[in-house]
Amino acid sequence: MSKLLPYVCPKWAQNLNHIPKYRIQVRKLEFLMADAVSRKCGHVITCGGVQSNHCRATAVAARQLQLQPHLLLRTDVQDQSKIGSEGNLLLDRLCGSNMYIVPRKSPYETELKPRMETLAKKLREETGKEAYLVPVGGSNSVGLFGYITVFEELISQGLFDQFDDIVFACGSGGTAAGLAISNHLTGSRIRCHAIIVCDDKAYFTDHINQTLCSVGLDTVHCQDILDIIEGHKGRGYGLSTSEELEFIMNVSQQSGIMLDPVYSGKAARGLMEELRSNPDRFQGNRILFLHTGGVFGMYDGSLDSVVKAETKDLVHMWPSIDSSPE
Ligand SMILES: Cc1ncc(COP(=O)(O)O)c(C=O)c1O
Repeated sequence: MSKLLPYVCPKWAQNLNHIPKYRIQVRKLEFLMADAVSRKCGHVITCGGVQSNHCRATAVAARQLQLQPHLLLRTDVQDQSKIGSEGNLLLDRLCGSNMYIVPRKSPYETELKPRMETLAKKLREETGKEAYLVPVGGSNSVGLFGYITVFEELISQGLFDQFDDIVFACGSGGTAAGLAISNHLTGSRIRCHAIIVCDDKAYFTDHINQTLCSVGLDTVHCQDILDIIEGHKGRGYGLSTSEELEFIMNVSQQSGIMLDPVYSGKAARGLMEELRSNPDRFQGNRILFLHTGGVFGMYDGSLDSVVKAETKDLVHMWPSIDSSPE
């Protein structure tokens, strides 16, 4: 129980024992940053889309540990003055991150990784300090442990007695790898479904098979431990259709749950579509959808026009206390 609670919380709220108390964690980064610190690095370099949650979380974590954040951000915007400060970019900027703008379609292995290595060399020469390189999404054999601990938490919460299937968004594969590997190693019998929001099933199968090999599980195959679901990425990574945005609005209006347009929004909508078109895909009908965060992505402006159009009748002008609201 927080020692602060009695001071900041009204008496009645202190009795709300049914509200679960969460430990705040940044999952993959908890392990990646521990590795960076143990290697005595002075800089952290990572990469992602211009609105990457992972890059923003890395920048914040780096500053908390007195490391210098460097972010390679993919976008089609070519003019430096047009790089905004909305959504995750606001936090990247607040953290004083060095941001390197690279073409949106840059592949990780052949372009981003070599650029990160070039930057690390430059920083070493200029500052005498080493840089720690974090791959896209933090999805490697170190970051993997973040989702192994998530799985342990789900077990400790008794969730696997209550659910048959777990469904989540998949963007770089680390979440999927961590959950599916833990499920396999613990012998839990939940079925793991990763709904991909970019690339394709072949790419993630290969990536997760490589992760399995990197942790010595080369006799285990991705296809035996994970159901990768494609067909729900819409216009592509980070691009939304109006139907997707309307879905997000519907969910928040019906439940108060906010889904981000890039990950959980697409995955939750994908789940609904699969339940309609392919219900046998699921082991049972007790399905746990894992919301993986990304709330700052909601402030990137992409939801604005749909939200304004859908709620225009809800904005009532009420200029004078003597009149009724319009
Ligand atoms: C909010 C959110 N959900 C899901 C994912 C996908 O996780 P992964 O990259 O491990 O596949 C990401 C990736 O950055 C994310 O930011």
